[in-house]
Amino acid sequence: MKLHHAGTQTIQTQRLVLRPFALDDAEAMFFNWANDPQVTRFMLWSTHQTIQTTRDILAEWVPMYKYPDYYHWCITLNEEPIGAIELFIRNERSCVGEIGYCIGQKWWKQGIMSEAAKAVVDFAFGTVGFNHIEAHHAVDNPGSGGVIKKCGMQYEGHMRQKYLSTRGVLEDCNFYAILKEDWERTQQP
Ligand SMILES: CC(C)(COP(=O)(O)OP(=O)(O)OC[C@H]1O[C@@H](n2cnc3c(N)ncnc32)[C@H](O)[C@@H]1OP(=O)(O)O)[C@@H](O)C(=O)NCCC(=O)NCCS
Repeated sequence: MKLHHAGTQTIQTQRLVLRPFALDDAEAMFFNWANDPQVTRFMLWSTHQTIQTTRDILAEWVPMYKYPDYYHWCITLNEEPIGAIELFIRNERSCVGEIGYCIGQKWWKQGIMSEAAKAVVDFAFGTVGFNHIEAHHAVDNPGSGGVIKKCGMQYEGHMRQKYLSTRGVLEDCNFYAILKEDWERTQQP
């Protein structure tokens, strides 16, 4: 069992293109999601107050694409950046990864993040060779739980006061995961 790192490859889904971020995504990222407190409420990063913060973060992210184990996509719809999804390596040796994501409010509840997250899960198992992909959501953030379930993940447990969110609450979280063998069953005709 070994990960075969492939870098942030562009992924096309029915409606979306997931691609690496570029420096000139700053304006769209700032106005479409990063400066919206409703989007960042449950995140670990603070709402961007100025576009310079967005430029600075992109200047950190973009050079990371030279590393083949960096997986971070800009979610685009009709070429417009509308959100982000990341696949983190939690344990390289055991082939365990985790996904995290956000999109702008204007695009909520249209099945968009489920479509993006399913594509990233397919990539993680089918291209990189992960064995276990996990995700968790704050109990007070059921929309994220909806995305996780739509990726075929199973409930694995509950953790109390797991992280301090931007809204300033120690969030109780539900944990989910999908195994490669679960995913393979969904690939059979
Ligand atoms: C959470 C978030 C990613 C959901 O994205 P989305 O594109 O709106 O999700 P989807 O449309 O794919 O919805 C998936 C399921 O969850 C449900 N859902 C979505 N938002 C919901 C909400 N606010 N309350 C209850 N259910 C919700 C959907 O109805 C859907 O289920 P269904 O197909 O049975 O109807 C989006 O709201 C967001 O970016 N929020 C801010 C950032 C964030 O919280 N990220 C997660 C941190 S853990």
